Amino acid sequence: MITLKSPEEIAVMRTASRIVAEVLAEVAMAARPGVATLELDRLAEALTIKKGARPAFKGYRPHDVEYRHSLCVSINEEIVHGIPKAGRRLKPGDIVGLDFGVVYQGYYGDAARTVAIGKVSAEAERLMRVTRDALYAGIEQARVGNRIGDIARAVQRLAEDAGFSVVTDFAGHGIGRKLHEDPQVPNYFRAGMPNPRLQEGMVLAIEPMINEGAAELEILDDGWTAVTADGKLSAHFEHSIAITAGGPEILSEFNHVQG
Ligand code: MF3
Ligand code: CO
Repeated sequence: MITLKSPEEIAVMRTASRIVAEVLAEVAMAARPGVATLELDRLAEALTIKKGARPAFKGYRPHDVEYRHSLCVSINEEIVHGIPKAGRRLKPGDIVGLDFGVVYQGYYGDAARTVAIGKVSAEAERLMRVTRDALYAGIEQARVGNRIGDIARAVQRLAEDAGFSVVTDFAGHGIGRKLHEDPQVPNYFRAGMPNPRLQEGMVLAIEPMINEGAAELEILDDGWTAVTADGKLSAHFEHSIAITAGGPEILSEFNHVQG
């Protein structure tokens, strides 16, 4: 069941998503060579509490292994859901997916970006740029009268035209009083898949995960970390957006910080 949000609910979600964007901006600035991924998690959590919100991922348990951290940090061949660790330090040349969500006044916000640590390869730069462009191409389609499949196709086209592949095992999602609501927002389209029409008041988390090589993934023994099966790079960008009469509104955009 897809729940439509009133303007008042969207106003609260705007604040939730702004907190997510502000925390991600701070965490992205702290993501430098030598920093441990657990330090980034601690920073995200402390900032969130200071802003009057609560981390959304901590304690989340969609299957038998609970997620125990506030931030997901996914390095290089890690696609999503990388677990922060005291012993895992960033190094020059890494690309690092930072995925973060909060709950604020009962409503969720969720966003992600991939950042470069020091100088990275030209191919890594291109993968990050294409993934970000694919997110914005998907958002551009998030309009009343279009369908979920229009978002999916736009994302897929950008990725595949660049010679990359989209991850099909994970999808974006509706968001609101829960982190994951209907509808699913896949990053690829196939005839016969559910393809609801987009309506004013829908709030979606659109989140392309794009692989340098093949789409196949594996889950590590920690029960969370998704890695590319071929060991090649992956990138991830995500925004929470509202569908308004005037077009898509990016709730998790943070305009004052570059990146
Ligand atoms: N943005 C991711 C998602 O929507 C983050 C989830 S991490 C989890 O699935 F720990 F909460 F699962
Ligand atoms: Co999400």
